[in-house]
Amino acid sequence: MNMIKTIDELNAVKAAAAEVVNVRVNGKDTGVKDVLVCGGTGCTSSGSLKIIKKLEEEVEKNGLKDKVNIIKTGCFGLCALGPIMIVYPEGTFYSKMEEEHIPEIVESHLKNGVPVKKYLYAETVDGDNIKSLNDTAFYAKQHRVALRNCGMISPEHIEEYIARDGYQALYKVLTSMSQDDVINTILASGLRGRGGAGFPTGRKWQLAKDLVKDADQKFVCCNADEGDPGAFMDRSVLEGDRIP
Ligand code: FES
Repeated sequence: MNMIKTIDELNAVKAAAAEVVNVRVNGKDTGVKDVLVCGGTGCTSSGSLKIIKKLEEEVEKNGLKDKVNIIKTGCFGLCALGPIMIVYPEGTFYSKMEEEHIPEIVESHLKNGVPVKKYLYAETVDGDNIKSLNDTAFYAKQHRVALRNCGMISPEHIEEYIARDGYQALYKVLTSMSQDDVINTILASGLRGRGGAGFPTGRKWQLAKDLVKDADQKFVCCNADEGDPGAFMDRSVLEGDRIP
């Protein structure tokens, strides 16, 4: 992708990528299926990379390369059910995937449009009625904020992040806000550190600004790991959403 230098160029990338991401976000049926396989830490350790490889082989074998996109995502949040695979636009939710399941799913679901019920997450199957991932008890009452794009976009394709309003806030900050405007906005938002101490982010930024008033050049270091060993909170956001 060419370097983006203006807001018009950013918005042009956003509009083009929105067409792609809409299959997942709005369930828009374009005749192409997006198959999202979780590449988060939990699902990777339970074998999701083998699932992706098998999917690629079977999609090729069935002549579906133009009809199926295979996308590795970050963590969906249901790690105990991994490896997890979701098929859009319908949002069909396959759990605990094994390589042996893939040929049947590709043939029946991706080629002929018939989901393979025996491999679906049991809660989503009620006779002929199949619920989507978003209608399960685990997700139905969630309103995701920091994790809204995890499990929805490919973190390795920056266009997909841009399609979800990526860098719009950065543009606003750089073109129409002072340093104090930014700090006051963050203070008013109540945003706090997520590593356990809950330190107010706006206070941290205020301290950084006040302590190095006269520096010609300033550096910001982002610590993207956390205090609780193995908690993977910040890391999950960075792995599953935007490109750092
Ligand atoms: S790592 Fe796959 S759902 Fe969390």
